[in-house]
Amino acid sequence: MNGVIDQYRVEQKPYYHTVADEVDLYEAAYGVRMPMMLKGPTGCGKTRFVEYMAWKLGKPLITVACNEDMTASDLVGRFLLDVSGTRWQDGPLAIAARYGAICYLDEVVEARQDTTVVIHPLTDNRRVLPLEKKGELIHAHPDFQLVISYNPGYQSLMKDLKQSTKQRFGALDFNYPEHAVEMEIVSHETGVPREVSDKLVSIAERARNLKGHGLDEGISTRMLVYAGSLIAKGVDPQNACRVALVRPITDDPDMRDALDAAVTTFF
Ligand SMILES: Nc1ncnc2c1ncn2[C@@H]1O[C@H](COP(=O)(O)OP(=O)(O)OP(=O)(O)O)[C@@H](O)[C@H]1O
Ligand SMILES: [Mg+2]
Repeated sequence: MNGVIDQYRVEQKPYYHTVADEVDLYEAAYGVRMPMMLKGPTGCGKTRFVEYMAWKLGKPLITVACNEDMTASDLVGRFLLDVSGTRWQDGPLAIAARYGAICYLDEVVEARQDTTVVIHPLTDNRRVLPLEKKGELIHAHPDFQLVISYNPGYQSLMKDLKQSTKQRFGALDFNYPEHAVEMEIVSHETGVPREVSDKLVSIAERARNLKGHGLDEGISTRMLVYAGSLIAKGVDPQNACRVALVRPITDDPDMRDALDAAVTTFF
């Protein structure tokens, strides 16, 4: 049965630049199998961090992108009908609990609350997952850990996590890295020289200051990596920034012009 879990092993060391003490804290949390919540804006490194930690801890990683159509069966499993009759198929959460993986539920607030509650018995000291339809109770493998992520501030009250869910997790705050670190990330990911990543980060910082003053969200590290990749391919930097940094985050003509102006001050 090892074949099931082997496909989830992180073979290559993911590139992750430490921002603060998050690696040590996560390692300590994993040591006591504390379920963890990663909070922070989109594109700031949460997914990369989990991949890196799974590699560092030598544990398989099963990632599930949550959405509002997701049901408990999508996580836990279901009976399938095939030529030989019905057979049970474990969902990603059941596979992780059974074989001892880190299960990462990305954007968990998107899931409906009746879906989210299936994680409750796994995230308290019972560490069990009932497969009600199958009549089986999985006792989680000792290596199993649950990690969820969410972007605080995006969700409406209707969509926030219940306190009874939140209070089952330890939480780490993520944010965009400081200037020098973000430069290094952008240069490492794209190959652009430091003069270029320096300018890209400066443009992002300008936009981040406009958050709440006409922008819902600032320019993320992910967007800087996109812009850097275009520049590394020979695209004119101003065009690269318009396409990868400015147009995606605003539909407002005045805001677009203000951000384009910031781009021209640097490039
Ligand atoms: N600390 C970091 N070390 C290395 N790369 C980073 C780091 N932070 C951000 N990145 C880069 O930014 C990109 C986006 O990060 P990531 O996908 O982890 O964001 P996220 O926080 O999971 O976003 P979302 O909430 O939208 O899923 C990564 O692919 C990577 O290139
Ligand atoms: Mg992510």
